[in-house]
Amino acid sequence: MRPPWRGVVEEYRALLGVEDDLPIVSLLEGNTPLLFAPRLSERVGAEVHLKIEGANPTGSFKDRGMTLAVSKALGRGAEAVVCASTGNTSASAAAYAGRAGLTCAVLIPAGHIALGKLAQALVHGARVVQVRANFDAALALVRRLGEEHAVAVVNSINPDRIAGQATAAFEIVDALGDAPDFHFVPVGNAGNVTAYWKGYLKYKEVGRASRLPAMVGFQAAGADPIVRGQPVAEPETIATAIRIGNPASWAGAKAAASESGGAIEAVTDEEILAAYCFLAREESVFCEAASAASVAGLLKRGVPAGSKVVCVLTGHGLKDPDLAMGQVTVPEALEPELDAVARAIGL
Ligand code: F0G
Repeated sequence: MRPPWRGVVEEYRALLGVEDDLPIVSLLEGNTPLLFAPRLSERVGAEVHLKIEGANPTGSFKDRGMTLAVSKALGRGAEAVVCASTGNTSASAAAYAGRAGLTCAVLIPAGHIALGKLAQALVHGARVVQVRANFDAALALVRRLGEEHAVAVVNSINPDRIAGQATAAFEIVDALGDAPDFHFVPVGNAGNVTAYWKGYLKYKEVGRASRLPAMVGFQAAGADPIVRGQPVAEPETIATAIRIGNPASWAGAKAAASESGGAIEAVTDEEILAAYCFLAREESVFCEAASAASVAGLLKRGVPAGSKVVCVLTGHGLKDPDLAMGQVTVPEALEPELDAVARAIGL
């Protein structure tokens, strides 16, 4: 029998360079499904796998980095952690800080985070500060808080976050036996694309992969500073998770794209929503709108026939029930009469 999964830090401790005696705050994150997508594969003429990061404990990939960032903060004697967030980082920070017995404060753009994420931060007991500004301004405030107060910043400007998130690349190679040809991923603050590239490089360096994928990152067209080559002052997209105009890991994203022979490109909200609905209907995967940017990008740009492709689906669709309900028609209520019910079903 396989030993039970121990969370990403314990599973990959040596590769992450984490000291043997550092206690790890874990919710057993990682080990997420790499799901073959038959209909998507057929549509694009390639072998496409979906990395289902919504299966992490708080419903997004953020848990991979948060376990390490919170463990290190605790190890250094921190009493409080703080982050700015479009929602998922705050949900993850609230959960891991709570588990560690640390105070957690989160700054979020008022009115622009999905309901489920706000609920998570609040139920886990974080001090939630709604700021009348966008993510970029909230992150600037968090940087100042980190400089002027005794709090550990757990945004992806903290290298422990990036290191932990690299484990998703390890898992992909472990599952496929080698790196794929293409790696498609949504880009917001650009920490994740940076982390995946570092992960693939590390696995190649230690001989667990023989090759490297082309890294292709996708921003939303209204929030695409890397594509434009300049910050976007007022980013706008229905994919609120990636509504970011001045990504902290801009340089990391550029490096991943250029070193790997990939690119950073944009997809429109319409393309994102089409991919979101396709994934739910055709592949039975309910992901966030931001997550669907990776698949929207694949559908838009295509790949050479027969390529092996991984698309990262970064967060769970249940995070944003409002967006989901906007894509469907809610049926009216009926009296409990057999004929009426049968007719409604189409029998
Ligand atoms: N997908 C989802 C669901 C996200 O929550 C994020 C980022 C991204 C993609 C983009 O990842 O920032 O590493 O390029 N969410 C951050 C947050 C900004 O605060 O939760 P990135």
